[in-house]
Amino acid sequence: MSSFLEIKNLTVRLQTGTPILRSVSLNVTAGQVHGLVGESGAGKSMIGKAVLGTLPRALQVTSGEIWLDGVNLSTLSAGERRKTIGAKAALIPQDPLTALNPSKRIGPQITRRLIDILGWRKADAEGRAIELLGEVHIPDPARVMQSYPHELSGGMRQRILIASAFAAEPKLIIADEPTTALDVTVQKQILRLIAEMQQRHNTALLFVTHDLGVVSKVCDTLSVLYAGKVVEDARMRRFFTRPIHPYSAALLAATPTYTDPTGSLTPVSQDVIEATEQEVRDHDVRAGR
Ligand SMILES: Nc1ncnc2c1ncn2[C@@H]1O[C@H](COP(=O)(O)OP(=O)(O)OP(=O)(O)O)[C@@H](O)[C@H]1O
Ligand SMILES: [Mg+2]
Repeated sequence: MSSFLEIKNLTVRLQTGTPILRSVSLNVTAGQVHGLVGESGAGKSMIGKAVLGTLPRALQVTSGEIWLDGVNLSTLSAGERRKTIGAKAALIPQDPLTALNPSKRIGPQITRRLIDILGWRKADAEGRAIELLGEVHIPDPARVMQSYPHELSGGMRQRILIASAFAAEPKLIIADEPTTALDVTVQKQILRLIAEMQQRHNTALLFVTHDLGVVSKVCDTLSVLYAGKVVEDARMRRFFTRPIHPYSAALLAATPTYTDPTGSLTPVSQDVIEATEQEVRDHDVRAGR
């Protein structure tokens, strides 16, 4: 099976030289779901931003390559890169409130991608947006098109962002903790919806989360990130039965499972953290800093 997204030895640093991502390599196969897990600050969001070309100014790619649909993005001009990424990839963000413009109605916020990226006529884009809102199970789509974000619940807003991400039929979706800002009751529905849309549209999905329980439900493969370094890459079944890296094993032991929800949780031990930190330092020495 071919990779739709291929990240090869990607290093991202602060202007001061401090590494944020350390020779990260990962693949997302066409039509499959790849989980990206790691604790807060591990660099999960920066991987997504590097792919989408939206890294903060303070951060720079200093080495490595990102290939999207067989094209090395760094060989393209800035304009071509923006176009390619816009046509082939899209983001489902973490916070559905800040991701929508509060002063604009929902309709134009969905149709903008279709008009700007695919050059659709306004009327066609509006028809497609209504269809998409139906696909994400929004009742009365025509009315919602006329609404402002504040008139809708958090779950509804996230459904709209999902519709919007799928609008231009990208073949890669990056979902960055798409359920963390939502009520627990809504989280499951949104997760189910993302999985349903991914299958219907046969998109590759890079699913960023710190929750291994979620990963076990939706992913085919995963990468575990620690301090900007991938410590393990695995297919799901092997990962849950035989994690190789001690940090992965510790992360699993610290995750409530659905088979044993009452089982006691073991926090990641200091020994494992220290050994993994040492591995990261050794990597930096080998990488020349
Ligand atoms: N604009 C910025 N300037 C400087 N450093 C940044 C900036 N944005 C992020 N970082 C640093 O990059 C590292 C990785 O951040 P990132 O947001 O990717 O983590 P994350 O794994 O997504 O965490 P979380 O689970 O909390 O979202 C962190 O150490 C963070 O401090
Ligand atoms: Mg993040």
